[in-house]
Amino acid sequence: MDQFSQAILTLVSILVVIFSICYFKLLSKSASKFPPGPSGVPILGYLPFIGADMLRKFSQLASKYGEIYMLRLGNKLCVVINSPSLVKEIVRDQDNVFSNRSTPVAAMIATYGAKDIAWSPNNSEWRAMRKVFVREMLSNKSLEVSYTLRKNEVRKAIQRVYKNGKAAVEISLLTFQTEMNVITSLLWGELLEGEDEEIYGKKFRAIIPKLIDLFGKPNISDFYPFLAGLDIQGIKRQTESYLQTIDRILNDIIEKHKKKLSEGVNEEGKKDFLQILLELKEKEKDSISDTQLKGLMLDIVAGGTDTTATTMEWALAELMNNPMVMEKAQKELSEVVGLDNIVEEHHLPKLKYLNAVLKETLRIHPTVPLLVPRSPSQSSVVGGYTIPKNAMVSINVAYIQKGPHFWNNPLKFNPERFLGSECEFSGNTFHYLPFGSGRRMCAGLPLAERMLMYFLASLVHSFDWKLPNDQKLDMSETFGMILRKSVPLVAIPNARLLDSNLYV
Ligand code: HEM
Repeated sequence: MDQFSQAILTLVSILVVIFSICYFKLLSKSASKFPPGPSGVPILGYLPFIGADMLRKFSQLASKYGEIYMLRLGNKLCVVINSPSLVKEIVRDQDNVFSNRSTPVAAMIATYGAKDIAWSPNNSEWRAMRKVFVREMLSNKSLEVSYTLRKNEVRKAIQRVYKNGKAAVEISLLTFQTEMNVITSLLWGELLEGEDEEIYGKKFRAIIPKLIDLFGKPNISDFYPFLAGLDIQGIKRQTESYLQTIDRILNDIIEKHKKKLSEGVNEEGKKDFLQILLELKEKEKDSISDTQLKGLMLDIVAGGTDTTATTMEWALAELMNNPMVMEKAQKELSEVVGLDNIVEEHHLPKLKYLNAVLKETLRIHPTVPLLVPRSPSQSSVVGGYTIPKNAMVSINVAYIQKGPHFWNNPLKFNPERFLGSECEFSGNTFHYLPFGSGRRMCAGLPLAERMLMYFLASLVHSFDWKLPNDQKLDMSETFGMILRKSVPLVAIPNARLLDSNLYV
C-alpha cells in the first residue's frame, strides 16, 4: 500500500472511532429499550467473534440471550429473532413495516441495483414483478401446462443414471443440472439449441452457486458502507465479473426471443415465460423495464436452482442415513405408483409419507437458514424491544426449527412428526417456515414443492441407493446464504423397476 492510501486509511479509521462513539452514546441515551446482546469491542463491534460458522454462533447467542438479541457488526445493527411468537410479530402483525430487504453489496450489484423480486425494497415495482411472476408462471394452470417440460427433464436424468449402470453419481451435480434445465426451459423454452444451450447451461451452473455464496459472505463493505469503494475483500469485483458473463447471456437470449417473436414463431403455441413478459412489455410499455426483465430472469434462475438442488441432496442423504425411513418411502411408492410404472405428478398428493420426509428434511436442514434478511422501514417495537429503522433483521429458522422448546426430540430425523400435523410450507405455523412467511415469503413455492416431490419420488422409486464401498455418510453442514452439505453426496444406484423400458 502506498503512503497516500495509508494516510487515507488512518484518517478513515479515526473518523470511524469518533462516529461509532457518538452514535452508540446517542443510542444508549435514548429512551428506547433495545434488545439485549453481546457488546463486542469498539469500532468492530461483535465482528471479531463471529467466526467462520455464523449460524452456530447465532444459535449459541440465542441460547444465551433468548428470543431476540441485537449485535453490532461494524457499523451495522443486526437483530436476530429466535422464537415463533416474535416471528409472528414480524411477518404477520407488522409485515408491511418489515417487508424491506437489507441488501448486501454483492446482491445489489448482481441484481442491477435490486431491480428484481428478492432484493427489491417493498415498493410498487416489486409488487408488480411478483404479481406477474406468480400469475403467469406459477398459477395452477401454468404449472399444469408446463408439466411436460418437468417430466422431460426428470426422465432424462433417470435415463442418464440408468445408462451409466452402477457408476457412482454425484447427487448435487445431477440435481443441479436437472433443476437448471427445468427452470430454463420454463423461462425460455426451446429457444437455445445445441452448442449455445450447452455453453450457457455450463456457465450458469458454474456461476450461480458462487454468486449466491457471495451474497452470504461477511463483507467489510456491508459493515462499513463508507469503505465500500475500497472493496477490501474483492467481493464487488468478483460479483461484477460474474454479472458481466450472465448479462451477456441474458441479453443474447432476450434478443433471440425478440427476433423469434418478430418472425411470428410460436404465436399460437405454448408460450414460455420470457415470451409472456416480452408481449406484456410490448402491450403495456411501462409494465416492466429491460433491467427488471433481466433481474427477474436472474432471480428465477438463481432462486430456483441451487435451493431445490441442495434440498434434494439433503433429502436423499437423510433417506440413506435412515434405512427404515427409506424402506417406508419406497414401500409407499411401490403401493401408490407400482414397480411396473413410473412416477407422474398426479401421484404426488397420495405420497403422504414422502411429503413428510421432505418436510422433515427442510426442518433439520433449512436450505435458507436465516431467510433473506429484512429491514424495518421505520423504528418499531418487537417483543417489547425497539428495533431501529434500517437494522438488519434475520429470522433464525435453523434455530427455531430445531429448538427443544418447540419440537420433541428435535435432532432426530423423524418424518412421522409431520403426518397429520398442521405444519405446511405456507408459513402459517411460525415454528416451521423453511420458505419464509408473509408478503416476502418464497415466490417460487408452488413450483419448488412440485419439483422437489416429483424428482425425489422419481429417484427413490427408480433406484436403490447405497454409498460407495469404504465410504461413510458425512452429514455436516456448511453455513452460507444456502446451507450446503459440506461433503457432497456420492451414491451408487441400483435399478428397482421391473421393466428396463421404464428407464428409456
Ligand atoms: C427448496 C426450494 C426453495 C427454498 C427452500 C426457498 C426458500 C426461500 C426463502 C426462505 C425465501 C425468503 C423468504 C422470506 O424472506 O420470508 C425465498 C424467497 C424467494 N424465492 Fe425461494 N426457495 C426455494 C425455491 C424457489 C424457486 C423454485 C423459485 C423460483 C422459481 C424461488 C424464487 C424465490 C423468489 C423470487 C424469492 C423472493 C421473494 C420476495 O422477496 O418477494 N424460490 N425463497
